[in-house]
Amino acid sequence: MDRLVVKGDRPLSGSVEISGAKNAVLPLMTAALMVNGETTLKRVPNLKDTRTMIRLLDIVGAGVSFDAGEMKIDGSTVNNLEAPYDLVKTMRASFYILGPLLARFGKVKVSLPGGCAWGPRPVDFHLKGLEKLGAKITLEEGYILAEADRLIGNKVSFDFPSVGATGNIVMAGVLAKGETVIENAAREPEIVQLCDALNTMGAIIDGISTDKIIIQGVEELQSTDLDVIPDRIEAGTYLIAGAAMGEITVNYCNPNHLNVLIEKLIEAGAKIDTSKNSITIKKANPINPVDVTTEVYPGFPTDLQAQWIALMAIASGSSVVKDTVYHDRFTHIPELNRLGANIELRENMAIINGVDHLIGAPVMSTDIRASAALILGAIMARGKTDISRIYHIDRGYEFIEKKFQALGVDIVRKND
Ligand code: UD1
Repeated sequence: MDRLVVKGDRPLSGSVEISGAKNAVLPLMTAALMVNGETTLKRVPNLKDTRTMIRLLDIVGAGVSFDAGEMKIDGSTVNNLEAPYDLVKTMRASFYILGPLLARFGKVKVSLPGGCAWGPRPVDFHLKGLEKLGAKITLEEGYILAEADRLIGNKVSFDFPSVGATGNIVMAGVLAKGETVIENAAREPEIVQLCDALNTMGAIIDGISTDKIIIQGVEELQSTDLDVIPDRIEAGTYLIAGAAMGEITVNYCNPNHLNVLIEKLIEAGAKIDTSKNSITIKKANPINPVDVTTEVYPGFPTDLQAQWIALMAIASGSSVVKDTVYHDRFTHIPELNRLGANIELRENMAIINGVDHLIGAPVMSTDIRASAALILGAIMARGKTDISRIYHIDRGYEFIEKKFQALGVDIVRKND
């Protein structure tokens, strides 16, 4: 099993180019299943999750080619409407095939995802939303079976602006008969990109980037060709590394997607210079303690909570980080404490008492963002850190060790 070995406490310099966003490309790939033709996606990151989604598209019968960041998906050959447990359990985003296949073919069978390291992660909003559009949903041996001759537009109001449920209902609503209104919709940039992409395919979606999305159903969608937006979480991870350890430029990112993080980094003492699609950051010295509460977009993202805690671990005082989106997403805390951090967990709140420095140690990754936090901790730590189970990081960060090496980090992948 691969692991990463980092010799930390070296200054960072240089620049890094951000990849296309994982959380944008996954729903775009399933949206392509609604088209009786070819969709081209550019700047597609070569990640474990994109490769898992390719396997899923392959299983349902779509033709996929992927070369040098360009992916072509042929939705005209789809002939199997089932997403198996083996895939769904490794990547919950497989659930994104529910809305598209049901809307286009009137039937879909998807394994129920089950729990994950962050807690229960239910899918009730997805299912209730599809029922509102007229789907009949049954549970059969761990699989959800959804059926509808033709979905019919309706009002769907979420208790919480779920990203995945918004994406699924948007895709379903696009091919439903009549008007679908989604209230309390997610406004994350990845949802905005999905809606914009669907509109270029012939959908009629209004209220994009607001909490009320209004869709007029159409009969069919056409092929399109588009660039995946930059990954704001990957960009945020490198910015946090810069804030701790040097002066770096993060290229091909969208600073508008990172407003809250940028404010927090400035509060922490970092110097930041932004242009249209790049950000230069100079380290904070000292690092001021800054509290953070995760919220839905445009709030501070839960996907950067772990990385922020890693930065606060060496701040010049105490800070509090609260996760209101995923209350149990704190598996990185005991691992960061192994590096000498002083972090206490109280329910969904981490109390971080900044220490002067971290010290390298063997640690274990538990999920994508927790792994990113451990890499950041390792980069800051004196001595050697050995990070095991890094297959988690390969799900969401393209060429991570190469990108950090280019910034001057002594990081190598080992398999022995
Ligand atoms: C997506 C992102 C993930 C990110 C999360 C929150 C993808 C592939 N993944 O996950 O990286 O951390 O958004 O920004 O885009 N909920 C329910 N019932 C549901 C659905 C969600 O109760 O049917 C709850 C969840 O348990 C959670 C909250 O809603 O507490 C937000 O979850 P959601 O926005 O759906 O996250 P995902 O789409 O799974």
